[in-house]
Amino acid sequence: MSTDVVGIEGQAGQRATKWLWLVGAVIAVSGILFGYDQGVISGALRGIEDSFKVSTTTTEIITSWVTLGALVGALVAGVTADRIGRRSALLLAGGLFVVGAIVEAAAPGAAILVVGRLVVGFAVGIASVAAPLYAAEMAPAHLRGRFVSGYQLGITFGIFLAYLVDELMDSADWRLMLGVSSFVGIALIIAILPLPDTPRWYLKVGRRSEAVEALEKVDAPPDAEAAIAIIEAEAASDVQASWEVAFSKRWRTPLLIGVGLAVFQQITGINAIIYYADKIFDAAGFTSVADQTMATTWAVGGVNVLATLVAVMFVDRLGRKPLLLAGLVGMGLSLAVVGIAFQSLGDVQHGGSAQAASDAGVITLVALVVYIASFAFSMGPVVWTIINEIYPREVRGRMVSVATAFNWFSAWLVSQFFLTLTDSIGESATFWMFASFCLIAFFWILRYVPETKERTLEEIEEMWQKRFDARE
Ligand code: BGC
Repeated sequence: MSTDVVGIEGQAGQRATKWLWLVGAVIAVSGILFGYDQGVISGALRGIEDSFKVSTTTTEIITSWVTLGALVGALVAGVTADRIGRRSALLLAGGLFVVGAIVEAAAPGAAILVVGRLVVGFAVGIASVAAPLYAAEMAPAHLRGRFVSGYQLGITFGIFLAYLVDELMDSADWRLMLGVSSFVGIALIIAILPLPDTPRWYLKVGRRSEAVEALEKVDAPPDAEAAIAIIEAEAASDVQASWEVAFSKRWRTPLLIGVGLAVFQQITGINAIIYYADKIFDAAGFTSVADQTMATTWAVGGVNVLATLVAVMFVDRLGRKPLLLAGLVGMGLSLAVVGIAFQSLGDVQHGGSAQAASDAGVITLVALVVYIASFAFSMGPVVWTIINEIYPREVRGRMVSVATAFNWFSAWLVSQFFLTLTDSIGESATFWMFASFCLIAFFWILRYVPETKERTLEEIEEMWQKRFDARE
């Protein structure tokens, strides 16, 4: 290869890197959108209750209907992202998010506030499908895990930001807390405007020259034509599959793997801790509100961001499965320890020593840090990565939608019933239940989830095809 060619390729590579950074920013901001909304409401609730004098049921609706909006958003997002493109779907999500956040901030009463929450949830749902899909299709194979886990990094950063805002602002400023999120929507729109859609989507809708342009711009492979030809060969057999095909026997295994991972990510307890960390620390003996919020912001929010960074660095090197399995061991063990700590707290309340109570508080704090760190380098980012890479292209949009909707549904279930569960069966049993789901998830993943590290999306598709042909 002549030095000239190396030079030209080097330049192309550098340009590509610059564009890849921008793609990374789109992914991260989409994650922040998701995370901020997930985290902010706990701090805003008290102020909302004071302003509107609402009942408990209305408070629950204000809290949880974002998740319902997201569930519907996720369901329509697949078809939307296939039809208008991944990029336009993200623009739509950004726009709706801004509208929803403004409605929330300006709401004259609870009913309008709920409408705002639904719109914001709907936008987050669309983004939760379109952003990782965009990342998975845009990234070169060797960086794909890193890209999709960049989305998770955004989520954790959004949650952390929300915790910080909750800590710094007075809950009377709830309009500001909710309104501020419109800037994240605007940032998403600004970041995605200069970017093209994914080469795979352009090919799917027959816009070949734009596909080549997009690939050269973002990935700059040495031979763009050859790279396009590979994607195109796949596209030749690519009929826009119907829901019937998506649910057919042929693709049942990948469908179940994605849905299973999505559900396990939630029923192993993450959002019980994200939403109710203050209450858990309260029950574990942190008496002042300031201590509780500080533990939540740093031990849960801060550790979550840091450990996700580890995943971003290692997901493409170590592979998906080792991270998932190691993480589940850490999550399961720490949940079991939290269960034991709560049991000894229960004993304390029935006549044990004050020393035992403060020990239980410290043990709970340490165990929750281990839990969050373990989740953050495994089930958090890796589940989203796998969901966005295992599906054959003809059904990818639809299947990612279904898996994501299951994820939102399970998130809703856990956040809706966690307090009821702790009231009825107690904290210890609730945490042991989450721990036992970690155990089941461990063996299920060991048995069924394939390693997808460094395989191109096309190779993954071929793997399913071969497995299906071998079975028939
Ligand atoms: C999950 C969210 C969760 C977050 C915590 C994400 O992967 O999907 O439900 O709140 O991780 O970091």
